[in-house]
Amino acid sequence: MADHDDIRARAEAEILAADSAAALKDIERAYLGKKGEVAGLLASIPSLPAEERPLVGKNANLLKQAIQAALDARGSELEASSLDAERGAGDFDPTLPPRPLDTGSLHPITQVTRELEDLFLSMGYTVLDGPEVERDFYNFEALNIPRDHPARDSQDTFYCDDSGDFSLRPHTSPVQVRAMERLEPPFRVIAPGRVFRHETTDASHEHTFHQMEGMVVGKDISVGHLIGAMKTLLRGIFHREVEVRLRPGHFPFVEPGFELDARCPFCSEGCSVCGRTTWIELLPCGLVHPNVLRMSGIDPEEWSGFAFGLGLSRLVMLRYNIDDVRHLLGGDLRFLEQF
Ligand code: DAH
Repeated sequence: MADHDDIRARAEAEILAADSAAALKDIERAYLGKKGEVAGLLASIPSLPAEERPLVGKNANLLKQAIQAALDARGSELEASSLDAERGAGDFDPTLPPRPLDTGSLHPITQVTRELEDLFLSMGYTVLDGPEVERDFYNFEALNIPRDHPARDSQDTFYCDDSGDFSLRPHTSPVQVRAMERLEPPFRVIAPGRVFRHETTDASHEHTFHQMEGMVVGKDISVGHLIGAMKTLLRGIFHREVEVRLRPGHFPFVEPGFELDARCPFCSEGCSVCGRTTWIELLPCGLVHPNVLRMSGIDPEEWSGFAFGLGLSRLVMLRYNIDDVRHLLGGDLRFLEQF
């Protein structure tokens, strides 16, 4: 009996003094392990007088349970206090709001592109995509751009190989051709995307920039339809009525071709944005040249259309008053974080 009490008292004192899970494990092994003290008590039973055996056996089991309970209690205590330490010595306040996460934002070009896509989708247009590495046929040939046209010069276009067939598209107009091949008229499409030009960069020129091509093919499409669509576009961008004017412009794939100017949305007497003229050169456009329709298998006697090439990068610069196109793709976080 004295053995039991003595073992129990020693075990409990050691358990109380243990300061780690590892120390508790050692104590558990010393008392409850295969060669531990309790096992020793049980092993002595066969050598005891028969009438003492049941009582000693029973007490050994009670002792085992008592030590196990003390080990468990001290174990939970140690775990709780180490959690407290992790939480900063009890200063942890679970009701405080978390630190704000740093979230990103959409690039201004993406924002404006999505806005324009929504606007044109609401007018029944389809949004198309086209390859950035494009063939000569789509870039130039099918757009009525002659062999000796300066746009085909390697001064302007990045060619991908010596054959001269593949290049980084210098404009989004090739998607017009792909649209005519794929869709049955009547149709309306826009095609926003990246374009590439081999030119020296400065505040208003960048080798990579964004355009959005538009094309409508239908019955008896006129310059009136073109102006109407462009005015809707401007209302969508500037959220009010904007006066426009057309000047003649030349592009081989439209006839007649125009430069469309918009009344400066930022001033009435002239400002730095419009160069004191109150007009902003917004986009080139025109009625689709009959040759272009014909080359893509659309009968120009039956169908007509208009097309426009919106400079998305320029529009984003106008919208956010950005003075250097190189900011747009420069990847400088100080710039991007403003959007
Ligand atoms: N693709 C021409 C360019 O990048 C822009 C353009 C002009 C597109 C007239 C058109 C258009 O659709 O009708 O220089």
